[in-house]
Amino acid sequence: MSKHYHWLSISLHWTMFLLLVLTFITIELRFIFPEKTRSHDLMRLWHYIFGTSIFFLVWLRLLVRSCTSTPNIDPKPAYWQHILAKIVHFGLYLFMLVAPLIGWLHISAANRTPTFYGVKLPVFVDPNSNLAQTLLNYHDEIALVGYTLIALHIVGALFHHYICRDSTLIRMLPKTGGSKTRPNYQRASTPQLGQLLKN
Ligand code: HEM
Ligand code: HEM
Repeated sequence: MSKHYHWLSISLHWTMFLLLVLTFITIELRFIFPEKTRSHDLMRLWHYIFGTSIFFLVWLRLLVRSCTSTPNIDPKPAYWQHILAKIVHFGLYLFMLVAPLIGWLHISAANRTPTFYGVKLPVFVDPNSNLAQTLLNYHDEIALVGYTLIALHIVGALFHHYICRDSTLIRMLPKTGGSKTRPNYQRASTPQLGQLLKN
């Protein structure tokens, strides 16, 4: 079995990471431009575009995932780490589906036309300002939960790489010419901690 995820999974993982960073930056930094200016509106528009791209790509990602195998981690992590990773991954997929969808529904409820690169998207709810406000609150809260999960996920990946010194992160990096496996994990700088967490 390959030591890496399928190249398409790897490409989608890092493309979507980049899209998420852009989604975050565009909405959080929109206030560097005064409200109702073209630049401010453009930042919001790009937020919608990057966010909607995540929504569409996550389906492709799930499809690729279902058609390809997940490489084993070497050495095998403790069972609780495996379960924790599964829960976080599930949460991340849910977040990538639900956060954009709620944003999209909010736009419809706010009586605006959701678009994607100028193409009109279907409207699923009738205009309703109360609903629009509720959806926006949910959108905000779900984004916060998502960012927390991402932070946990990144800490987990770095923990596996630097403390457990296993192949978790390497599997999600593009294959390069040389071997990127970590045969020297036994010589970890903190072998006691790595061993302790395995038991
Ligand atoms: C994973 C994707 C997304 C994430 C993580 C995300 C996150 C956020 C966050 C954190 C805010 C609040 C910013 C603040 O309160 O200052 C926000 C605002 C907003 N988002 Fe998203 N969003 C995503 C996708 C989308 C999509 C696809 C749409 C619509 C098609 C959308 C529409 C909005 C709208 C309308 C606002 C309110 C600000 C405004 O009026 O422009 N979002 N989003
Ligand atoms: C610096 C940022 C990131 C790093 C270092 C990273 C690292 C990794 C690693 C090492 C894996 C494989 C873990 C395993 O199979 O147990 C993985 C898988 C995954 N990552 Fe990330 N990631 C990052 C950002 C993100 C972001 C922003 C998202 C989405 C919001 C994300 C979503 C996922 C998902 C859903 C999986 C599971 C893949 C699967 O098996 O289906 N990652 N990531």
